[in-house]
Amino acid sequence: MLSSKMQNALNAHINAELWSAYLYLSMSLDASAKGYKGLANWFMIQFREEQDHAQLFMDYVLARGGQVALAPIAEVPTQWESPVAMFRDTLAHEQKVTELINGLCRTADEEKDYATANKLVWFVNEQVEEEDNVRSILDQIKMVEGNNMGLYMIDKELGARVYSAPTAAQ
Ligand code: FEO
Repeated sequence: MLSSKMQNALNAHINAELWSAYLYLSMSLDASAKGYKGLANWFMIQFREEQDHAQLFMDYVLARGGQVALAPIAEVPTQWESPVAMFRDTLAHEQKVTELINGLCRTADEEKDYATANKLVWFVNEQVEEEDNVRSILDQIKMVEGNNMGLYMIDKELGARVYSAPTAAQ
């Protein structure tokens, strides 16, 4: 049985993952409107992945006999001035999510909730991957700033990203 403190923290985090999904959907739409089809694809896949993260937490709360409480999802920005700005915001956001996951780990420790602590390991590792991927795309985009051909090539590369559902967390 989840403690109420742990359940509340997990529910707050479900909202944060859904907000992340909403943020990346907004980025995808903005990229699409500006003609960056590859970026739009990359962020659309990111949107799906964040929904998966939220779903994994929802499934987990239910598996522990808890109650999922869905709160309103706050508004997200709708426009970014450039691809660099988009990926800068993405990296900052993923770093924030990492802090949130770390906070959940601290709560699980305080509550002596070993099952939740164990479940969170996948998310701790996922955040390392998320930050690393985004940082590397940001570095590449910064390298070609002002060079349309370079940006075109990166956009094309991001267009090749394919969605794959998470498996290791179950
Ligand atoms: Fe669900 Fe991108 O962290």
